[in-house]
Amino acid sequence: MPDLPSPLSTSPADLSRAAELLRAGEIVAVPTETVYGLAADALNPAALAKVFAAKGRPLVDPLIVHVASAAEVDRVAEPEARLGRLAAFWPGPLTVVLRRRPVVPDLVTAGRETVAVRVPAHPAFRALIAAVGPLAAPSANPFGYVSPTLASHVRDSLGERCPWIVDGGPCAHGVESTILDLSSPGVARLLRPGPISREALEAALGAPVEAVVRSAPADQAQLAPGMLERHYSPRTPIRLFARGAEPVIPPAHAALLLQARRAAATPGAETFLLSESGDPAEAARALFALLRKLDRRGFEVIVAELAEETGVGVALNDRLRRAAAR
Ligand code: TXA
Ligand code: MG
Repeated sequence: MPDLPSPLSTSPADLSRAAELLRAGEIVAVPTETVYGLAADALNPAALAKVFAAKGRPLVDPLIVHVASAAEVDRVAEPEARLGRLAAFWPGPLTVVLRRRPVVPDLVTAGRETVAVRVPAHPAFRALIAAVGPLAAPSANPFGYVSPTLASHVRDSLGERCPWIVDGGPCAHGVESTILDLSSPGVARLLRPGPISREALEAALGAPVEAVVRSAPADQAQLAPGMLERHYSPRTPIRLFARGAEPVIPPAHAALLLQARRAAATPGAETFLLSESGDPAEAARALFALLRKLDRRGFEVIVAELAEETGVGVALNDRLRRAAAR
């Protein structure tokens, strides 16, 4: 094993090398349209164990299984009629929790009767799944830290714990997939907001989608153990303020993180913009990279503006609130 991660490109030769490594039970960081994932053969427990070890992730936190197509979901999960209504979202940033099939190792599901499944869109990741079969992949960051949206983020935070990285460029969405739980008959629950909004899911399903209440940490831990209140956390403390409000800058070395450019500058802080124009999709794409950058800059505090609570802004605010939780 090399000391530093070996960058692989998305050339056919490098992707076959990555596929070979995955088939041999190694872990490989891969680009997806949401965030970089740390992939392993979803049906190989020894390979899955390496994912948990590299991330420092507790074994009680289940993994998402990535498959090639909606038809392939059948390999790992029981049939679910409502999936037909969600066809338009795949390939894409939607994860669905379903009843598992016995073939899925307990390490993937943390011993549950359910499995989380996604059909990703990134062509390099799709090529690897086509070559290897279903791949389990959590975000490729140490447990609890900010998710990676560039190959260099994976290298910076996992280092030699992840010897192989496929560099597929910056992630298109920049926040993790929307997670929808359909494992109970007749009930649809949103476990994690993401690029696909609750409203879009309700319109497609023709039925209400319950949002899991954030103020019930114990319940939440039951539903999606990785969704602890404190998550996506940079080391620098974060204070939040409402969209458009006047920020209060503490007397400290402070960074001000804004959703859009403002007419007047705020004194007492160095200002960073998530989007020049206030475009929420652009802001979501920029968020994790900017949090990592501010962490490196050694600010004492980050004062961050929340997004409008609509569309991908809901996911953005969810990640900001978790990053701010102490
Ligand atoms: O966009 C994404 O979903 C990225 C890319 C790599 O696909 N993956 C990702 O994985 O964000 P991870 O492991 O960082 O987050 C997956 C979340 C965790 O909070 C986990 O607890 C939850 O999905 N999860 C996995 N299986 C579950 C299940 N059977 N029931 C409930 N929650 C589950
Ligand atoms: Mg994660």
